[in-house]
Amino acid sequence: MEYQNLLSEIKENILYVTVNREKALNALNRSTLDELAAVIAFADKTDEVRGVIITGAGEKAFVAGADIKEFSNYNAKEGEELAKRGQDLVFNAIENSSKPFIAAINGFALGGGLELAMACHMRIASDNAKLGLPEVTLGLIPGYGGTQRLTQLVGKGKAIEMITTANMVTAEQAQVFGLVNYVVPLPDLISKAEEILNSIKQRAPLAIASALKSVIASVNEVNGYQTEINEFAKSFETSDFKEGVNAFLEKRKPNFVGK
Ligand code: CAA
Repeated sequence: MEYQNLLSEIKENILYVTVNREKALNALNRSTLDELAAVIAFADKTDEVRGVIITGAGEKAFVAGADIKEFSNYNAKEGEELAKRGQDLVFNAIENSSKPFIAAINGFALGGGLELAMACHMRIASDNAKLGLPEVTLGLIPGYGGTQRLTQLVGKGKAIEMITTANMVTAEQAQVFGLVNYVVPLPDLISKAEEILNSIKQRAPLAIASALKSVIASVNEVNGYQTEINEFAKSFETSDFKEGVNAFLEKRKPNFVGK
């Protein structure tokens, strides 16, 4: 399949997907999300694909988040639709896939970028990677499952610290509290992911699918995702959201008033 914003190829039963918007630090705009939805559906239904590696183009960013320029004028309804559509077609689709997905985090994984990595079944980071959920800086909260999956991965205390301070953590720190499985030098990133998928490829495909489904079932009993969608949508109606986004676009510090 040909994509505008993704590179994809299958080699030895592994599907390699690269988010390819390097100039925008691989930010997820609507068409990139549509293409991700298509490639995830393809992976799920194609027997030749035994595992997927997702990474970002270039050496600076995995994915720097949802595309801020695209949603800068959204209202609550549009914010709700953005979060719901993304969660259904991309983030939950990855987590619920019968194929194992590994995020190869090659640089900044922020906001929707970290959420993309967290939707994957495993995460490997290069030693230059920086991870965070900076949405409150924009007067928003994470909208692609971040409040749920970060809490599941690192526990409530660390998740609240990361989400409310908006501070980034290094790859090494992320490994200490279980947010990434391994940290490796950038040139070894893809080969480490391949090593894991090559082990999985030797095991029984239906058993892998059942194992993934069972592990995911253990953490998704309560629907906090809907709460997140509602709160994300509400943020779009605040003055602080407009101020946060304008400050980003104008490359200045925001002045929040709590309205
Ligand atoms: N959306 C759109 N464009 C983005 C972007 C994003 N998330 N992140 C970076 N870019 C663009 C910048 O606007 C810039 O474009 P121009 O050259 O046209 O100005 C280009 O990518 C390079 O970025 P910077 O000049 O900012 O690079 P830097 O090295 O100075 O900083 C950075 C790097 C710290 C990652 C910084 O770009 C940044 O803070 N990005 C935004 C991160 C963010 O807030 N992500 C969360 C988005 S909201 C979200 O994801 C909501 C959700 O949960 C659904």
